[in-house]
Amino acid sequence: MAVGADHAGYALKEAVKKSLQELAVEVIDVGTFSVESVDYPDYAAQVALRVARGACERGLLICGTGIGMAIAANKVPGARAALCYNTETARLSRAHNEANILVLGGRMTSAAEAKEIIKVWLATPFEGGRHQTRLNKISALEKGFGAASST
Ligand code: RB5
Repeated sequence: MAVGADHAGYALKEAVKKSLQELAVEVIDVGTFSVESVDYPDYAAQVALRVARGACERGLLICGTGIGMAIAANKVPGARAALCYNTETARLSRAHNEANILVLGGRMTSAAEAKEIIKVWLATPFEGGRHQTRLNKISALEKGFGAASST
């Protein structure tokens, strides 16, 4: 799993890294490595590109709210970044959206909540079926056929 955070997500990233290791998840930490102010799109890009290119199976991104990281990561074709604030949204983001990047808000979510969210997110399989049809339409949007197919 590729893991990245900005300064507002740094503390939560460090806190959850240990539990990822306990879950036997191999972690590639792309930074940031301190609370010094940085720009979240730089880390979103590093994680999303690794996931979209298949270098890493999953990604985890953390900024203050999670919003900026999600917006930035979802600009990378193939990235499906889901901002989750509880275990139910984490479960649904896997079951229905096959999210390959989990986004958390470091100023919104405690370390204890984050650990539960991550556990559920990693354990939930994609349901496929009608949800696959919808993912195919997202892929079409990425290829620029979205407008044509909806008319
Ligand atoms: C940084 O102050 C903050 O704007 C950032 O971490 C994130 O919340 C953006 O969406």
